[in-house]
Amino acid sequence: MSLVCLTDFQILAQQKLAKTTWDFIEGGADEEITRDDNITAFKRICLRPRYLRGVSEVDTRTTVQGEEISAPIGIAPTCFHCMTWPDGEMSTARAAQAANICYITSTYASCTLEDIVASAPRGLRWFQLYVQSDWELNKQIVQRAESLGFKALVITVDVPIVGKRRNDIRNELDLKRNLMLKSLQSSEEKNFKPDKQPSFINASFCWNHLSWFQSITQLPIILKGILTKEDAELAVKHKVQGIIVSNHGGRQLDEVPASINALMEVVTAVKGKIEVYMDGGVRTGNDVLKALALGAKCIFLGRPILWGLACKGEHGVEEVLDILKTELHTSMTLVGCRSVGEINWDLIQLSRL
Ligand SMILES: Cc1cc2nc3c(=O)[nH]c(=O)nc-3n(C[C@H](O)[C@H](O)[C@H](O)COP(=O)(O)O)c2cc1C
Repeated sequence: MSLVCLTDFQILAQQKLAKTTWDFIEGGADEEITRDDNITAFKRICLRPRYLRGVSEVDTRTTVQGEEISAPIGIAPTCFHCMTWPDGEMSTARAAQAANICYITSTYASCTLEDIVASAPRGLRWFQLYVQSDWELNKQIVQRAESLGFKALVITVDVPIVGKRRNDIRNELDLKRNLMLKSLQSSEEKNFKPDKQPSFINASFCWNHLSWFQSITQLPIILKGILTKEDAELAVKHKVQGIIVSNHGGRQLDEVPASINALMEVVTAVKGKIEVYMDGGVRTGNDVLKALALGAKCIFLGRPILWGLACKGEHGVEEVLDILKTELHTSMTLVGCRSVGEINWDLIQLSRL
């Protein structure tokens, strides 16, 4: 079967993966209303194309936190890539480097940070942190990521506890085996140390802790999982450098707004003071275009990267990124945008929102 769009990868990935793994990747919380709405909300937005603009050359390049990337498309943090492909995050990192885009590595990566960096030394990477109860552990891992060349710290805020995913319970999925936080092990330390077992997520984490993170790292801090103007304003007040509008792919609190619908509220609240990104439900070039028109600087892909990995490892991820980049190029050409800078609100028909 030829794979021409991201959904083709989804269909093939389901055939390749064990049911338990598939359910873990695809699952949303509770009734999966938000997971599905992330996709359908994009389809309720209409585009307003402009013609006769001379679009023989279209450039998808942009920047995130001052670093140039080939397109406003990145890889969202997802855990345990070895569940879908033996080389796991090392394959993901190589594909991201080849595509010249940003890869956010998860706290719960199944390869060590050292191995991930060594496999693609020139790639642009950010490190995602689930704040742990052990503050010394937080400090160690953040400083280790910084010294390994990760360019930003992405702190996930929407997981004080893990949402209820029904199929994982039915399947009796045991993630404890995977929860060995390989990212906390250095490459010399191949034998897992039980004392490094994560205390898992710190539910007491709050706004006041951000200054502590700012005191232990020079990295720009980006908050992932913001959905409201109130929190967006607090993020600006606490001097973070970016926000990822996200509902965790509908895996945490169900029945929150689709990410694309929350984006406008957040973009309006930050008034251009910091960069705003989004993830959740992006599957086509038109989706990317719509997110950028509504103020996102870049979008990030969660599940589609895992589909790519499951189908063909590194080459599957490369193909997924390439398909989306090409679709974005086509969408930009057809709406009359020669550069990412020309994408703006005028491209969107607001009455359909
Ligand atoms: C299997 C899976 C694992 C995930 N693991 C993490 C993680 O470790 N850290 C995190 O911040 N978000 C995690 N997420 C959420 C993603 O970063 C992202 O918000 C979401 O997948 C985007 O939606 P999409 O899958 O529709 O693209 C995970 C999502 C999935 C599907």
